[in-house]
Amino acid sequence: MILVTGGAGYIGSHYVLYESARGSEVVILDNLVYGHREAASGVPLIEGDIGDRALLDRIFRDYPIDAVVHFAAYAYVGESVTDPSKYYQNNVAATLNLLDAMRDHGVLRFIFSSSCATYGNPQYVPLDEKHPQNPINPYGESKFICEKMLAAYDHAYGMRFASLRYFNAAGADPEGRIGESHDPETHLIPLVLQTAQGRREAISIFGTDYDTPDGTCIRDYIHILDLAQAHALALDRLRDGQPSGFYNLGTEHGYSVREVIRLCEEVTGLPIRAVEGPRRPGDPPRLVASAAKAKAELGWQPRYPDLRETIRTAWNWEQNRRF
Ligand code: UFG
Repeated sequence: MILVTGGAGYIGSHYVLYESARGSEVVILDNLVYGHREAASGVPLIEGDIGDRALLDRIFRDYPIDAVVHFAAYAYVGESVTDPSKYYQNNVAATLNLLDAMRDHGVLRFIFSSSCATYGNPQYVPLDEKHPQNPINPYGESKFICEKMLAAYDHAYGMRFASLRYFNAAGADPEGRIGESHDPETHLIPLVLQTAQGRREAISIFGTDYDTPDGTCIRDYIHILDLAQAHALALDRLRDGQPSGFYNLGTEHGYSVREVIRLCEEVTGLPIRAVEGPRRPGDPPRLVASAAKAKAELGWQPRYPDLRETIRTAWNWEQNRRF
């Protein structure tokens, strides 16, 4: 049985859907601060916090858990700069608490939600796993510290892990059961689609003077179910007794902010008003993954290489959202 922390959140809930569909038994632990009860339907949900050691002890005693897939974290980069305590407490200290509980209960398989934010400003693209890690905000730093803890716990306690460094998660369950629902929403694709719907007046383009072909930032938008697939494969690999590893997860294709807006117009068939604004502090000009290692070692085969298709699933969700 798999314990999924943050399983009621955006990425966690899609993983739970994927993992359950292949017949795995899953239990979710989520404090519902950002997660949605509706996103966890059909799977047991324990409402609580990964920082609560007594609760973790009960869970590891009551359920036959052999692996933890850990999504529970705060992920607002800007907020991590203004309120770093929240990020070090939750993303680092509470993760340490979880790892110690696992070690004490002999649960030694761990899949970790890491981020391309651990790399900081790229020295070259596409980014492979050997690229130096110099995070430029407490959010990225918190993920980087956890990666170091994992390497040390592997060495000292035999805890095997896969640390998955996501690029930009996007899209939704194609059947529309769950999707992206952040409050506040800060991510580009949902904001652009909500502008198409008339729920927002315009999308602000954060910076048009970057050293990129059209002057706007380039990102690698990876479909949420392709992320889910990689977690499942990474877990299979650990259960097979393979060693720990770090893996980038992205499509290996970059799209600029203007290109994303244009594709959203194409998918929705609606005009989208964009206004040019200043740069958002801390945004690297270009983040594109090399995902060769995940493909080779995990056997990962992304099913949504086309950003149009990813946007289509996000648009389906925006039009029929349930939460
Ligand atoms: N953007 C706009 N206007 C907006 C929102 C975003 O122009 O209203 C631009 C951003 O400047 C960026 C791109 O769209 O160039 C994507 O921005 P997102 O906020 O959607 O995502 P980020 O690239 O900032 O993602 C980052 C890291 C991830 C991290 C995530 C946390 O790349 O690793 O923030 O939410 F997990």
